Amino acid sequence: MKISELRSIYLKFFKEKGHSVIASASLFPEDDPSVLFTSAGMHPLVPYLLGQTHPEGIRLTNVQKCIRTTDIEDVGDTTHLTFFEMLGNWSLGDYWKKEAITWSYEFLTSKKWLGFDPNKLSVTIFAGDEDSPRDDEAAEVWKSVGIPDERIYFLGKEDNWWIAGNSGPCGPCSEMFIEVDEIPKCGPDCRPGCHCGHFVEVWNDVFMMYNKSEDGKYTPLKQQSIDTGMGVERTAAMLQGVPSVFDTEAFIPLIEKIKELSSMEEFSKEEDTQIRIIADHVRSAIMIMADDRQVGPSNVEQGYIVRRLLRKAIHSADRLNIGTGFMIELTDLVVDMFKDVYKEVERNQEFIVKNLKAEEEKFRKTLTKALRRFDRIFQESNTITGQDAFLLFTSFGLPLEMTRDLAEERGIAIDMEQFTKQFEEHREKSRTATQGKFKGGLADHSEEITKLHTATHLLQTALRKVLGKEVTQNGSNITDERLRFDFTFSRKLTPDEVEQVEKMINDVIAQDIAVEQSFMKYDDAIAKGALAFFKENYGEEVSVYNIGEFSLELCGGPHVKSTAVLGKFRIAKQKKIGAGIVRIRAVLESNS
Ligand code: GLY
Repeated sequence: MKISELRSIYLKFFKEKGHSVIASASLFPEDDPSVLFTSAGMHPLVPYLLGQTHPEGIRLTNVQKCIRTTDIEDVGDTTHLTFFEMLGNWSLGDYWKKEAITWSYEFLTSKKWLGFDPNKLSVTIFAGDEDSPRDDEAAEVWKSVGIPDERIYFLGKEDNWWIAGNSGPCGPCSEMFIEVDEIPKCGPDCRPGCHCGHFVEVWNDVFMMYNKSEDGKYTPLKQQSIDTGMGVERTAAMLQGVPSVFDTEAFIPLIEKIKELSSMEEFSKEEDTQIRIIADHVRSAIMIMADDRQVGPSNVEQGYIVRRLLRKAIHSADRLNIGTGFMIELTDLVVDMFKDVYKEVERNQEFIVKNLKAEEEKFRKTLTKALRRFDRIFQESNTITGQDAFLLFTSFGLPLEMTRDLAEERGIAIDMEQFTKQFEEHREKSRTATQGKFKGGLADHSEEITKLHTATHLLQTALRKVLGKEVTQNGSNITDERLRFDFTFSRKLTPDEVEQVEKMINDVIAQDIAVEQSFMKYDDAIAKGALAFFKENYGEEVSVYNIGEFSLELCGGPHVKSTAVLGKFRIAKQKKIGAGIVRIRAVLESNS
């Protein structure tokens, strides 16, 4: 069965059961700033699962575009994708487990519909814990339709509980698995959910009955609802009897094209994986860019994911001797695949092509620099720390996966934990900065901290004027006694440079220059030359502070009103804290 038929018979089945067919929502969640992408069909329906009235009624069904970046590292195996389509049906306070399970069974096994062999169907059910009891009700329904005890598995929350994100409507779920004869069981304990590939999950029925609050408490929902999710590509692969999602028509044309563009004749298993990664990542990036919001690659939010997907694809393509411009060649194929299902894909084709071109050019430019920097760090220290990987990422846009691969080629492993820690800190800082707060004490807005904050802006500009534009902020921390500023630079400052920086700052202070806040579009701020360290999570409008003509920086503040109150600026200490990062501690002293 072809994918297009799968989509249409699913909707037909549920229409016959009284469901309204609703359109796929955007990949960009409308009302949920906590996540970047729509990751399941239920995601846009959260308000309705919580009790709001849906204009189309209490039985809904659709095909939903989804992105799951959490699966990115698994892409290349037989089932995981970053972009995929999900079929779903919902009961909003209407039917419950009996109908949901009976219909799932009918649709999966009836010859009129998908016609899977009922003997190959296994199901999992929530085993119960302190938050919710064992779901014997679901087990009974499965038994009543004919699933024997030995193909019913009771599993814990990690397998049989569904929630989109950390809070919101949720509940126990029951997953359906089809056994693949070609892939043998991995051992006596092989069971659904064990990831060896013998059992492939095709569908999930969620019994929405709780609301989980931010602090982790579960309270029963006013209405009990059904949410189901069936992965289109996976189910198609099962129906077509092919070994992976990459062997369905969702990927075959892309994979053939990639092979054709490579000058190679034969492909090893590892090279086949790279081909799958290219196909998946380019397809996903195109589908994100196809949204009418027209978000291209950038260093913020969804744009950052686009960038990461494309750069990883370029890296994989380079390993297969695929020349430049390959992503453009794949675009026509992806547009053809989806133009009848999601109209926006063709509408935004020009935007997509323009961005693919620009991103490849841009990345290839920084790539040379990044590789040079990588080699230098490696030669200097014989290792690549998590912090180095973080620097290569923030300063040169080198995706972590690439740094990791390069490191592996040299026989070293990167401390991922250290990288992740830095990355999380970076994200956290950007979050608090955007909210107008500043980690390291600024939240309490004490006078000293405010002064040191303004001094930090002066310091960054002065360093760039004295040492050059390669200086960029790497971190900052302020207490009411001193500022600490980390920046990218290959060596410590000479005494002469220290003096120049101090003098430049003290001159600005002496001129008593006004510190002014304004609001503008992020792109306009950057175009005006504003410095931006916290690259993520900026909204459309950003807050910018300028200190006369001397400094212009994206920042939530607060700052002093004019510079004279700062007193006298002095660099107290400096230290090289890693390959290519220097830390300065500075103080403000009173003039008297
Ligand atoms: N919302 C159910 C699922 O994605 O599995």
